[in-house]
Amino acid sequence: MRYALKTICVMALLLIAGCDDKQSAFAALGPVSARITFLTWIMFIGAALITVLICVLMFISIAGPADWRHKLTGEKSIIWGGIVFPVVTLSALLIYGFLILKAGGTWVRAENPVHISVIGEQWWWRVIYRHDDGHTTESANELRIPAGRPIEIELSTADVIHSFWIPAYAGKIDMIPGRINTLHFVADKPGIVSGQCAEYCGGAHALMSFYTVAMTPSDYDAWLVKERSNAAPALAGEGKQIFLSSGCGGCHTVRGTPADGKIGPDLTHVGSRQSLGAGILPNTTEGFAKWVSQHKIIKPENLMPPFDFFSESELQSLSLYLNSLE
Ligand code: CUA
Repeated sequence: MRYALKTICVMALLLIAGCDDKQSAFAALGPVSARITFLTWIMFIGAALITVLICVLMFISIAGPADWRHKLTGEKSIIWGGIVFPVVTLSALLIYGFLILKAGGTWVRAENPVHISVIGEQWWWRVIYRHDDGHTTESANELRIPAGRPIEIELSTADVIHSFWIPAYAGKIDMIPGRINTLHFVADKPGIVSGQCAEYCGGAHALMSFYTVAMTPSDYDAWLVKERSNAAPALAGEGKQIFLSSGCGGCHTVRGTPADGKIGPDLTHVGSRQSLGAGILPNTTEGFAKWVSQHKIIKPENLMPPFDFFSESELQSLSLYLNSLE
């Protein structure tokens, strides 16, 4: 009895965890994901009904009247219940699923979408905004989009297979070496939702997430102008010197400074993002200090070299500088 109660509690907790509407297939915030949510409900309710039906049939076959039991064990019921019913049901679901997949690609495709490229890397996201004048602006680990406008995202990878998934807006699409896959969606309204790498891609796969910030179109346009500009930190001084003299610029770019590394995430406006380390730490001075000094523990196997040699005050100055890159 106690074991059953524990099991029910664990199941209930898992269910509740799945209901977090920041990253749930049941909380659609756009036309593409709304169709997927509808399919999810059909499958969920259908599976529940079929499970109940099977339970009833099992009960009858064990304790029902003799003639019912006889019928259930006959060849006919195996042909109809075991072959015809699953083939028809699953085929219908498959065809409906294909129609939804196709619609997701074409339905919201528009003449002049917002162009963004996202490249999966172990274990973070390189995000490139493509401007109308042909120039690009690089950012990382966060997606900003205008609500109500069609979005077109080119998905590719720098290493292994990743999968890009923002359940609130669209289905998941794999990022496959040597290929560019395209994702189309529209966000209904401004808001912040989270997304996740949905394909096992090595050690820190579970720590490869990101926030998507949908903004009003005018806010987005203003944000993009700012994102495109060079870094203008409120606090430079000692922290900036430490950043530049410790080799950080070998991997990271801070536009407007000599740091122009291309290996790791662009940090030009890192202080304005929702999170650090691809969705795993709060974007605060403490968050930066924790990441710089303990990232090998927080996110094992990540490719950044260890930087555990800074004194407390150096770490503080460096973190203040990074956090001020807004
Ligand atoms: Cu990238 Cu899993």
